[in-house]
Amino acid sequence: MEKIQVKKSGVPTTILAIESSCDETAVAVLRHDGGVAEILSSEISSQIDIHREFGGVVPELASRNHSLHLRPLVEVAMEDAGVTIADVDAFAATSGPGLASSLLVGNTTAKALALATGKPFISVNHMEGHLLSPFIDRKNLESNLALIVSGGHTMLIHMKAFGDYSMLGSTRDDAAGEAYDKVGKMLGLPYPGGPEIEKQARSGSAEAFNFPRSMLKDGLDFSFSGLKTAVLYQLEKLDPEQGKAPADAIPDLCASFQQAVIDILVTKTLRATAQCEEKTITLSGGVSCNRALRNAMQTACDESGYELLISPPAVSTDNAAMIAFVALHRHLHGEHSSFHEDINPNLTLV
Ligand code: KG4
Ligand code: ZN
Repeated sequence: MEKIQVKKSGVPTTILAIESSCDETAVAVLRHDGGVAEILSSEISSQIDIHREFGGVVPELASRNHSLHLRPLVEVAMEDAGVTIADVDAFAATSGPGLASSLLVGNTTAKALALATGKPFISVNHMEGHLLSPFIDRKNLESNLALIVSGGHTMLIHMKAFGDYSMLGSTRDDAAGEAYDKVGKMLGLPYPGGPEIEKQARSGSAEAFNFPRSMLKDGLDFSFSGLKTAVLYQLEKLDPEQGKAPADAIPDLCASFQQAVIDILVTKTLRATAQCEEKTITLSGGVSCNRALRNAMQTACDESGYELLISPPAVSTDNAAMIAFVALHRHLHGEHSSFHEDINPNLTLV
């Protein structure tokens, strides 16, 4: 990171950010003039329909579609924001973690825009985007215990200040969203499984099947693969011939699976919060869209006297506004990236 002079407060700052780490091509323009940052535009071109027939993300298809859609999306984002390229103070892109060929498309585009306009380039860690997203509609960041639950990660992070993060727990196997997606696939539900399982679970009973809550009693790490296997065994019991779920059992299977995931997430989050003596919990990442999880976490926080901040649904699943928000903080701290900085598919947060 190169240090530069921080802009004087009160001078508006405009950031254009690109997110292309997986199967969403996204561009956002964020404006900040000292108060709450304003999302002037946040465009997302989802490739879910393209990958659905394969039951998951196909990397080569993802990068080809990023390169097809990104340039027009940058134009739409600027038009919707009412800015021209000359108004942008810095260009940002996700540099990891994610699919290498997908990351490269967004990264190279942001670097090209920065080079062509003589403006700084800022590379952003996708997970930091999720981490800060609960604060996007607030003036200030505050210390908190963060639960990030996405398709690729399940992490408990103690955020003491901007850039000061420690990892308290993470998953030893599948991420929570990944477990949702795999169980969704087993049940024959469309990809991605998360929102579909939530929908089915609404008409099912969470007590119908007693699925395991792995590692619930101790520690702050997670394990979801045993739960996934337990659902598979249950399917084999219900239909020994084909191991397929009878249609009328799907809501109960979804509700019982979802309750196990929620019990694990809520219990570990509260344990971590007590351990690091924080009073604020934040919840972010795609799985945080889940209403049952949001409600359970809210109830637990009310009972324990913790404040809960959940990222607004529009910035919970992958988006570029959260990337712009991190870039804004970098910019305000005078931290810009070198044009030589590479993408890193395995980039870590701490
Ligand atoms: O944060 P995200 O958009 O992408 C990653 O960085 O991974 O998260 C996507 C994940 C997918 O696994 C998806 O199934 C899950 O979030 N998801 C949900 C819900 N909406 C999205 N999981 C449970 N309930 C939902 N409503
Ligand atoms: Zn994500």
